[in-house]
Amino acid sequence: MTTGVASHAPARGLVGRGKRLLRPLRHSGPARLLDRLEGLINAEVRAGRLPPYTLRGHVGPTATFHSAGREFFAYFRELAALEPHESVLDFGCGVGRMALPLEAYLGGSYLGIDPNRRSIEWCRAHIGARRPNFRFEFADMYNRRYNPTGAVAPAAYRLPVDAVDFAFATSVFTHLLQPEVEQFVRELGRVAGRALTTWFLVDGDSPLLPFADGPARYATAEVPEEMVGYERAWVLERLRGAGFGRVEVHPGSWRGDGSGLSYQDVVVAWRT
Ligand SMILES: C[S@@+](CC[C@H](N)C(=O)[O-])C[C@H]1O[C@@H](n2cnc3c(N)ncnc32)[C@H](O)[C@@H]1O
Repeated sequence: MTTGVASHAPARGLVGRGKRLLRPLRHSGPARLLDRLEGLINAEVRAGRLPPYTLRGHVGPTATFHSAGREFFAYFRELAALEPHESVLDFGCGVGRMALPLEAYLGGSYLGIDPNRRSIEWCRAHIGARRPNFRFEFADMYNRRYNPTGAVAPAAYRLPVDAVDFAFATSVFTHLLQPEVEQFVRELGRVAGRALTTWFLVDGDSPLLPFADGPARYATAEVPEEMVGYERAWVLERLRGAGFGRVEVHPGSWRGDGSGLSYQDVVVAWRT
């Protein structure tokens, strides 16, 4: 299964430059108009079972929105033993790609946190309205790509919970810089019994992530948050240091060697 949190590899060259230039238009008048038009023809969008096009585009390829959610729902149960009665934290929940398939399963509690206000508003208005045990919180953290006007430095951020059974962060650490990753891994260790996170784990040099900065590797030096990898040993050390005694790595296919569970590397960490 490799549809997953796929294709967060930034487009290169002219295409990449064009996409970056057009990104601010995603929340512009024409983009909203596009969303409204889609709502007229797409019953799933109208029913609040699928977020509008521009919000889907914010978290990954629009074509694999549902399949990525289903894929990770299976990993939550099969790799991280998620049970319906448990409490769950979705860190960097985006527009509910992972929350949607959990809706029918989770009787415990769900908390989604994200610094993208429009995504949180959509999740509250639709998923939260259907399922009162699903809560969504806006975290006004700065991120050059996702929340450029954010007020709080992510490295000072504290999760607004004390304990959850299971936390996950899909396609989040692949966009964050080192101080933020350090803080969030520490925070996950503070609150979560076990955690599933996705990464681009690097051993030595990576042709896809040619720019090195300490343990971090970037695809582009211009906007590092487009795609960030970390040295495998550094990540495992951080997770163990945060209190996760058992850490399992399920390599992804992003390296292009033809194998992999998902696209990104999936890491499941257990407090033991
Ligand atoms: C590629 S999207 C993935 C969203 C979601 N996890 C999913 O798999 O659909 C990355 C998400 O990370 C969020 N994000 C960016 N900076 C963040 C930060 N400092 N803390 C938490 N989330 C952040 C973005 O707003 C965005 O929703």
